[in-house]
Amino acid sequence: MNLTRRPRRNRKSEVIRNMVQENFVTVNDLIFPIFVVEGQNQAIPITSMPGISRFSTDRMLDEIASCVELGVKAFAPFPVISEDKKDRFAMESYNKEGLFPQFIAEVKKNFPDVVLMTDVAMDPYSSDGHDGIVDNGEILNDATLDILAKMALEQARAGADIIGPSDMMDGRVGFIREHLDKNGFSNVAIMSYTAKYASAFYGPFREALDSAPKFGDKKTYQMNPANSREALLEAELDTLEGADYLMVKPGLPYLDIIKSLRDNSHLPIAAYNISGEYAMVKAAAANGWIDGEKAMAEVLLSFKRAGADIILTYFAKEFAQYLKKMNG
Ligand code: PBG
Repeated sequence: MNLTRRPRRNRKSEVIRNMVQENFVTVNDLIFPIFVVEGQNQAIPITSMPGISRFSTDRMLDEIASCVELGVKAFAPFPVISEDKKDRFAMESYNKEGLFPQFIAEVKKNFPDVVLMTDVAMDPYSSDGHDGIVDNGEILNDATLDILAKMALEQARAGADIIGPSDMMDGRVGFIREHLDKNGFSNVAIMSYTAKYASAFYGPFREALDSAPKFGDKKTYQMNPANSREALLEAELDTLEGADYLMVKPGLPYLDIIKSLRDNSHLPIAAYNISGEYAMVKAAAANGWIDGEKAMAEVLLSFKRAGADIILTYFAKEFAQYLKKMNG
């Protein structure tokens, strides 16, 4: 056969394949979401997320040290709040003495170079399990903004580097930006959960925090999985309101959205490889149905190929160990 073009020539050997490889995942791209609980010497596994535990602050410092050793230096902590501290207005979320601000300060004291991206939303602290104030079954937008801004400010005061509003209220990026600036925190960045979809894949995370909505669902604030133009609208608003990064969440079922934001924005784009996506890979691997390690590497690569600069993933530590093993 006289074929002029034979793409297989560029796949002939490992050295050639490496030479023409377009995308890479490095430890620099990763943010590790972690779960912190009250108490001392606590390590409570999350059944639906094999390999991931909720740690008390003391144990989490050890965990962070071992991640830093592997090159993972950015973390997205989430607090597990006990039921008796939850209320309708998520008041614990801006308590300086609360678990979360104390944890942030402790991490920054021990690891000044570690980057902390802290979540802003009411659900871990809300007795309703929603991201906003519930009034007669409705989620109030504008009244919620005040709480989000107070929460963001306490996190910034404690030492957070990046604020991550995950609540999907309208106008929250601008509102939080203004509140941070007014209080002297113009250097604290905002990574907006720009396109956050009402997804079935959040299940294991809600188990980890015991934060599932007590009634209804999140469809009046999180996006409809059927929509993509709407993600561009959200991206435009977040950009105008001052977001420093745009995020897409979940990740795997929304690679097209990552690509679309990449093509339409000059801001760094992040992908959140969420709890349910992690659980799927782990469950299939535990059954021997797929090679878990290879699947992990392929999943993470898919985000880079789609155009993400940053990946939030529960695989962060495991992937760093894998890279170390591969590179000897
Ligand atoms: C809530 C929040 C959720 C996640 C991050 N922040 C869940 C939700 O919206 O119900 C999910 C992360 C994951 O599933 O890994 N504001």
